[in-house]
Amino acid sequence: MSNERIVFEPADLAGCATWQLISPEVFVLCLGAFIAVFVYWSRRPKLNEPPLVPYKYPLIGHTLEYLRDSEGLLKRCHEQYGDMFSLYLFREVYTIASNDLAYEMFRSTNFSFKEGLERMFPLGDIIGSKAYPGNAAVLLKDRFYKHVDDCYSRIYRELQHNIDQLIGDCEEPKLINNFDEISMTIIARAMANLFVGEELCKDDEIVKVFATFATTLIRVRKLSSIAYLIHPRLQTEYIKLVFKYGDNSPQKHKDLLTKKLKPIFEKRYQDMQQFGNEWKRPDDLIQLLLEYSIDMFGKIHYDCIACRMLTLIWASIHTTSANLLNTLNDYAGRSEYWNDLRKEQEVITDGLDFDLTMDRMEKLDSFVKESNRLMGHILMLPHCATCPSFTFSNGYQVPKGRLVLMNNLTYMSNSSLHGDNPETFSGFRHVSKSPFARVGRDSMAFGLGKHACPGRWLASRNIKMAMSILIRKYEISTLDGKRPKYPIKRGISVLGPLPLTFKKRK
Ligand SMILES: *[C@@H]1O[C@H](CO)[C@@H](O)[C@H](O)[C@H]1NC(C)=O
Ligand SMILES: *[C@@H]1O[C@H](CO)[C@@H](O)[C@H](O)[C@H]1NC(C)=O
Ligand SMILES: *[C@@H]1O[C@H](CO)[C@@H](O)[C@H](O)[C@H]1NC(C)=O
Repeated sequence: MSNERIVFEPADLAGCATWQLISPEVFVLCLGAFIAVFVYWSRRPKLNEPPLVPYKYPLIGHTLEYLRDSEGLLKRCHEQYGDMFSLYLFREVYTIASNDLAYEMFRSTNFSFKEGLERMFPLGDIIGSKAYPGNAAVLLKDRFYKHVDDCYSRIYRELQHNIDQLIGDCEEPKLINNFDEISMTIIARAMANLFVGEELCKDDEIVKVFATFATTLIRVRKLSSIAYLIHPRLQTEYIKLVFKYGDNSPQKHKDLLTKKLKPIFEKRYQDMQQFGNEWKRPDDLIQLLLEYSIDMFGKIHYDCIACRMLTLIWASIHTTSANLLNTLNDYAGRSEYWNDLRKEQEVITDGLDFDLTMDRMEKLDSFVKESNRLMGHILMLPHCATCPSFTFSNGYQVPKGRLVLMNNLTYMSNSSLHGDNPETFSGFRHVSKSPFARVGRDSMAFGLGKHACPGRWLASRNIKMAMSILIRKYEISTLDGKRPKYPIKRGISVLGPLPLTFKKRK
């Protein structure tokens, strides 16, 4: 995957450049959108909506300022309007909620996180999973994570093997510029092991699907940002089109998964029927998907299984590997933590039961959590209102379909949640408080309430296992010993690889 650079968000979208690109077709589209919005607005029932922050230019609203300086915009609005206000961005009204109002949304069944995500990125449309009942998250929560505990030693070995292979011995110091790619591959292979089992995860084509599917989606989204500026819906259509005819269509991935899984599934299905209770049930995700499909459809439904798998790949690999990259950047650029973290690792010996030792790594856990907490995203966790109108406890109402996002700046800088100097990195501030994967008001990395990410224990452990291996094996540092800040674009922190030196530890 040599030229698969991981770009997390559009990097160079200067607002004004977009205007030069606007053609007559686009103008007509804008006009159409404007009329549609107008009709829509004028027909809606009158609600006591949160204040819409005034803006100068119709159609543009706060978009340009948001693209230029999302942090400044959010701070200014929060000072003026408090914990709830609305912004007009990308031809849509978004409501921004802070503190307790955000928690109300997380806890309410009148909001859907799944729909919120789908609105930001139409994954279900792209891969065609909307046709099937249920969803991948529920499947995992209800069935998979009960069994996953037995898999950690397998994942650990897989991580170790790939770190050896991709980074090497480093007897001589080795400069690595693309840890983003390495992180993606390491995590993709570990997840592939868990998801498709030990046999198939050695298959290069399968690993490639795991490692590239998420990256491709991100790249296409980046290319489509101009469409997004015109209207989010246009972006959706554009992305769907690209995937339908492009090289990297989800259909191709689905076909490949089906081709590879078919012999295994057929064999397992036969064995299950033939040996009944005497059959030793393999502990991997494909077994679960097989059983789920039989329960649901009475047969092996390959398309549905492939859809679920692609959703899980998208959801798990990209975020986990981004977090690993971010944590390692923090580790490499903050030498004051090396001694403590290494010392903690001395209790861990390879081959020891990892489950037991994992929970003893309190400092590492805290470091990963702090690193995530200060990752720098500004607006998070889009939730979509699903009831005719939702009334917050402060009396403000939002209509059905409104996207409400959490204001991360107020969350991050709240000292009653995180302790003193909440805006400064303090690696061990969470020691002997709640672990990274436990959600709570002071720990929102995986959402909260009923929408909390079901894969959080798995993700958190994967990151810690990989970090543990890296810390014990190498001295890792940035070139100048510093940890530069990532740029923020469109409210998202643009994580990137820092040039890192790896050297074998004595
Ligand atoms: C900090 O968080 C708490 C709990 O959510 C909230 O009640 C409080 O208003 C927040 N403080 C500030 C200054 O935002
Ligand atoms: C914002 O929130 C998300 C999850 O809710 C977290 O991962 C991130 O690090 C938070 N903080 C900042 C400043 O980005
Ligand atoms: C949630 O939705 C239900 C059904 O539409 C509605 O009766 C209820 O008032 C809503 N809750 C809030 C807090 O708006």
